[in-house]
Amino acid sequence: MKRSERPPLSASAYADQSYYIQIQRNLNAQFEVDHDRKRRFMIMTYGCQMNEHDSEKLMGMLGEMGYEEALTKEDADLIIFNTCCVRENAELRVYGNLGALKPLKKKNPDLRIVVCGCMMQQPHVVEEIKQKYSHVSLVFGTHNLHQFPHLLSQSYTSSHLLVDVWDSEGEVIEGLPVARKVGIKAFVNITYGCNNFCTYCIVPYTRGRERSRTPESIVREIEGLVRDGAKEVTLLGQNVNSYGKGLKPLAESTGAGFEQVLNFPALLERVSQIEGLKRIRFMTSHPKDISEALIEVMARCENVCESLHLPVQSGSDRVLKAMNRHYTKGQYLDLLELARRRIPGLSVTTDIIVGFPGETEEDHEETMDLIEKAQYDSAFTFMYSIRTGTPAAEREDQVPEDVKHARFDRMLKRMNEIVIEKNKAHVGKTYEVMIENEGKEGEGTLIGRTRHNHLVAFEGPSAWTGSFALVKITRAKNFSLVGEVVEVL
Ligand code: SAH
Ligand code: SF4
Ligand code: F3S
Repeated sequence: MKRSERPPLSASAYADQSYYIQIQRNLNAQFEVDHDRKRRFMIMTYGCQMNEHDSEKLMGMLGEMGYEEALTKEDADLIIFNTCCVRENAELRVYGNLGALKPLKKKNPDLRIVVCGCMMQQPHVVEEIKQKYSHVSLVFGTHNLHQFPHLLSQSYTSSHLLVDVWDSEGEVIEGLPVARKVGIKAFVNITYGCNNFCTYCIVPYTRGRERSRTPESIVREIEGLVRDGAKEVTLLGQNVNSYGKGLKPLAESTGAGFEQVLNFPALLERVSQIEGLKRIRFMTSHPKDISEALIEVMARCENVCESLHLPVQSGSDRVLKAMNRHYTKGQYLDLLELARRRIPGLSVTTDIIVGFPGETEEDHEETMDLIEKAQYDSAFTFMYSIRTGTPAAEREDQVPEDVKHARFDRMLKRMNEIVIEKNKAHVGKTYEVMIENEGKEGEGTLIGRTRHNHLVAFEGPSAWTGSFALVKITRAKNFSLVGEVVEVL
């Protein structure tokens, strides 16, 4: 089967799916009559918040088609892998888990196994699935997620693998149903795709060129979420600070003030005016595109949380240049200094890659020095992973695995010490916590997050979930805090 060309799209592209939703709903209703239970699905999601949110959209569509969630793989009639390929180990996990389903498919030939997400945008991956994983029913990509009802209903009529992956992005699709797991927290896309082409990164190839949603559709979606009980939203994009590039001012004013909302600070300020929205977060921020205007909006708007994810990737100017990041260590640290000065108590998190091709001991020292100066509240450290098709994969000066491992271990050890020290500084302080869930220990334990995005565990009845409380921090653990409730707000 060949990769399909991108068909022309209308703005109502998801509405076109209603016919297939109806067909599948009828088939599933028949299944329920025959089996005395609904058809069940399970989704395994890998990768970033983009994928998490795409899975929420898949769940929304599955709900419309009359499926319910399965508790175990054995109970499921439909298993979906929403995949990530940002590093090799993410891919290997998918292959491993897919292979492990073979006996289940043998036992239950009606089981549908679907693979979608970023990995599928790479032709060699689809080839591998065709060759080695013949128990898979359906493969589709990131650009045609909205066609899921059509593709799924087609896959029920064939015993062969159905592949439909679009090579490039279409226009932004609005109106997809979304099933959110935690009612009080919601992800909202503001941009799709990425134009930065950091030389190590596969995302621009799997998610296509950057496109911004209109401010109206974003604000309307959030207003609807708040009406449904959301108290916190996270605005999502690979590089939120470039929001609005390519958006044209409306030819005619609608009177709603959206014609002024053409960049990220303006969008953030407009979102912050939504009545009843208590907390706003956003990710990811590219250091090259953060403006003073953004920092001012963060400082000014009460419901924008004091938390910033600002991936640095490396502390060496030479490596940053080779990564195509467009900032220096000095510029990054100056930015951090300004942000912390203007936003008291700001918490900052980051991503770091060790072992980028050509990275020397001196370069690594520069990154070690940067983490001393930046004093992160938490960080994700990754070993560089070769991604076929990216410029860095072609370089001949790849860092040997043992050297990468040694640098990674050293970085992780020091980073953990810094993070634990920072965590300890919270003991004795009282913070506003949004109570999100029951804790791991079950009944009587709760977890929530501070505005700084720190996870706090404490005691309390599950009836408090969804409320805000003042919590005094009593103990710091490695990656979280423990506290006791002072007052429920
Ligand atoms: N758009 C975001 C997130 C991109 S992916 C950003 O720009 O920060 C998340 C993280 O994965 C990146 O920040 C980077 O640290 C890491 N990453 C991306 N490609 C990688 C690779 N080839 N090897 C190791 N880590 C990688
Ligand atoms: Fe990848 Fe760079 Fe785009 Fe982030 S900004 S998604 S790291 S290319
Ligand atoms: Fe992975 Fe795709 Fe996100 S490659 S990190 S799931 S955009």
